[in-house]
Amino acid sequence: MTETVHVPLGDRAYDIHVGPGLLAEAGARIAPLLQRPRVAVLTDETVAPLHLDGLRAGLESQGIAMSALALPAGEATKNWAQLARAVEWLLDERVERRDVVLALGGGVIGDLTGFAAAILRRGVRFVQVPTTLLAQVDSSVGGKTGINTRHGKNLVGAFHQPSLVLCDTDILATLPPRDFLAGYGEVVKYGLLGDADFYGWLEAHGPALAAGDLAARGHAVRRSCEMKAEIVARDETEQGDRALLNLGHTFCHALEAATGYDGARLLHGEGVAIGCLLALDLSARLGLCPQEDPSRFAAHLRLMGAKSSLADIPGDLPSAEALLDLMGQDKKVLDGQLRFVLTRGIGRAFVTSDVPRDTVLVLLNEALEGR
Ligand code: NAD
Ligand code: GLY
Repeated sequence: MTETVHVPLGDRAYDIHVGPGLLAEAGARIAPLLQRPRVAVLTDETVAPLHLDGLRAGLESQGIAMSALALPAGEATKNWAQLARAVEWLLDERVERRDVVLALGGGVIGDLTGFAAAILRRGVRFVQVPTTLLAQVDSSVGGKTGINTRHGKNLVGAFHQPSLVLCDTDILATLPPRDFLAGYGEVVKYGLLGDADFYGWLEAHGPALAAGDLAARGHAVRRSCEMKAEIVARDETEQGDRALLNLGHTFCHALEAATGYDGARLLHGEGVAIGCLLALDLSARLGLCPQEDPSRFAAHLRLMGAKSSLADIPGDLPSAEALLDLMGQDKKVLDGQLRFVLTRGIGRAFVTSDVPRDTVLVLLNEALEGR
């Protein structure tokens, strides 16, 4: 069964459809957006052999022609060279201002395609067909698009909302289990930051969801998108509340930098889960949330077979001071002040700059000693 989440952003409003079998329905769902029956698709070389034929069939069933470019899979593709390649290809394909570009892939393809669409002919519409759990619950929704530069991740980009998001939960069946679990880090983040009931539901249904239960996957993706949509509608360009979505991310970005953005050591979603646990631990140390919350979340991550501590990251890590310095380089730092998303309990996150540096250092030192 397909469920729909609406993102109420005035003339940039759009729907997110969530359910199985949506690739086959892509033509019918996209047709209302088209002024002529053709779309240009950007995807990656891993996703293309798995899902491009399914998308083509879904579009052709409604008489929509499709051309596609597959870029190399992986984070390194979010660069200037691949962006230029994508934009030149879209121009080769004679994509016009009224046409629609489609992203079929994970967050890498979604972010790059969205940015290409934002700058092509000063902005064309695009549709997200996210193929990873992380992309279905996070990166395909909310309009943050961009690429990485030698200065860091996501430093060049634009807010450009998609016109439609199709989250086909069947597509997740081909995702390697480690990538699925990494995406789960973002799912559980929503429960922790704003919905204790959803968190409790995940504690009960997380294992079934990981094992492939489609109804559970549909519910988790739909509730996550609903929560992101609510926050984005309140604060589209991150002047305030949208920062709540960064629960766990200040720690995560430092750990990603410390591991050289090497996915073999740490995937983004794994870092988010570990970062959320550190944020809960920090909140408990500051007397803000119940003392049992961190161990409750740690137990859930272990039950899921997910990374839960610094001990689960292979290879050397730098000192606590060096990690704190890396946290200071996060682009969410304001006037040199570290900003944290902390919590008053599961489901009650808030943003603050009022965190003693020494408490963070002690926390990181203890986390490193546990390795
Ligand atoms: P990804 O796009 O690199 O996908 C992970 C891997 O899975 C890739 O190798 C890909 O080829 C493969 N894959 C994708 N779908 C598959 C499928 N169905 N079956 C088999 N393999 C599949 O990574 P990701 O984790 O989806 O996204 C990470 C990116 O998202 C980062 O660049 C991050 O910055 C970005 N991001 C953006 C936002 C945002 O709001 N825009 C939010 C969070 C993350
Ligand atoms: N992933 C964080 C955001 O979209 O704001």
